[in-house]
Amino acid sequence: MNGYTPALYAPSGSVGVLDSAISTGQDASWRWDRMMLTAPAGTRAVACRDVPAELRPVLRLFDTASAGTLNGGPSVPSAGALHPYEYFAAVGEAIYALDAARHRCTLVRSGAAVRTALEQAGLADTDAAVLVVLRPWLSMRKYGDRGYLYAQLDAAHLATHLLVLATESHDRAELRTTPSGSLGELLSLDANCRYVHSVLALRGAHHDTHPHEWSFVDERGAAVAGDRFWLEQECWKSLAGLRGDTPGPAASVRRGPLLPEMRAQPETDPFPGPESMTSLAAKRRSAKDFAPAVLTCDEIDRTLAALRTPLLTDLPPDSGLGLTLVVREVADCAPGSYPLYGPGRMSDPAAVAPSGDELVRVCMGQEHLRHASAVLLCHTDRQRLLDAGPRGVSDALFRAGALTHLLYLGAAATGVDVTAIGGFDSMGWRVLAGLPDGHEVLYVALLGRSGRTSVKLDRLHRAYAHNER
Ligand SMILES: Cc1cc2nc3c(=O)[nH]c(=O)nc-3n(C[C@H](O)[C@H](O)[C@H](O)COP(=O)(O)O)c2cc1C
Repeated sequence: MNGYTPALYAPSGSVGVLDSAISTGQDASWRWDRMMLTAPAGTRAVACRDVPAELRPVLRLFDTASAGTLNGGPSVPSAGALHPYEYFAAVGEAIYALDAARHRCTLVRSGAAVRTALEQAGLADTDAAVLVVLRPWLSMRKYGDRGYLYAQLDAAHLATHLLVLATESHDRAELRTTPSGSLGELLSLDANCRYVHSVLALRGAHHDTHPHEWSFVDERGAAVAGDRFWLEQECWKSLAGLRGDTPGPAASVRRGPLLPEMRAQPETDPFPGPESMTSLAAKRRSAKDFAPAVLTCDEIDRTLAALRTPLLTDLPPDSGLGLTLVVREVADCAPGSYPLYGPGRMSDPAAVAPSGDELVRVCMGQEHLRHASAVLLCHTDRQRLLDAGPRGVSDALFRAGALTHLLYLGAAATGVDVTAIGGFDSMGWRVLAGLPDGHEVLYVALLGRSGRTSVKLDRLHRAYAHNER
């Protein structure tokens, strides 16, 4: 690598090193070479043989509800459609990296070390475990520090999506949100600026086929990730002390709604109705804008019913999360804020609905949201959140993302249009919705009827959701 300074590309490389290299007047060829690409020495042999049979039910999860998606994989909302995560599957004594867009599974580790790591993670008795691995850089390179919040919400959508599908395709599917560090260590994730966000543990698959052709590659022993890029490493370092992969106390898995205040779904509950969750997952999309429209109370009720869907997770029973509905245009329902669950008593009982201008302002200038008919706010006490440390923050974001994912499925069942948004002013919403003092809004979802816009601004390179000019 003529002219390169290897320290820049080594794991310890830093902006400081780069600064000093530039300021001490390294020659022009060195600067030029930094911008060059080098192809790998040889073409890698790709063994296209049948994927192992025990992996097929997992691949099926990735093939389901993935037609026409922007990421070539599962259909899940994602800030800027950036999908800042990767997937691995552990079956038997092997771990595979899954590339859902290329339909390729790569054997990366096998043998006794895999068995030991699975045992340490409490996953020894599963047929398969799907690892959702977070790679925050993919979101942070567009959205800066807030990209880490989005990355966690995105991963919560993905994990909930997989759990919902697996609940219908397996005898037992449970989501572990506090995975032990053993699997991440085995895959050298930390050195590659990634961590295990959650693990889906599966037993008793109903199907052993998958609709797409997947190729199979054996790359045991090779580095799990590609070249390490110094900017990504700087980004990773900035997350020290914030990351939610600190193993918490092993929590027991229980089936129930995501908020303890939610009543278990009665038999007569309209959700999910005649459609399976799998078919709703295939239908759901994010609204690109909203047209002026009035929703009915029944539509709102049926959409919100999805929030009570019981899930099998290890989330702690106590959440501290509140859900508040801000009604703007709903027939027979006075505009204003309605606390639905958890803490959320209005500080101003005479709350009124925000005007279009106010809504656009607290949504960071996102004009396409102006005519939303109702807004669901997920919020919590800021001090409680901070006192809980990184683990508590990631639990809260997980729950907020999972609830919003269920809302998407409810909206798909009801025919209401929805979009989650991350570009909003937390304090602004607290004031507009009359939330209790000290509450922080974690996530916002808007409901209404789509207009005619064909482009989702949030997907463009410019961060429109942050009012970037
Ligand atoms: C964490 C998060 C933040 C988002 N923020 C915004 C936003 O601020 N504005 C917006 O219009 N859409 C936002 N979206 C919606 C995404 O743009 C949308 O999910 C993505 O374009 C993929 O489209 P799909 O959901 O239809 O598959 C957000 C989604 C997520 C998960």
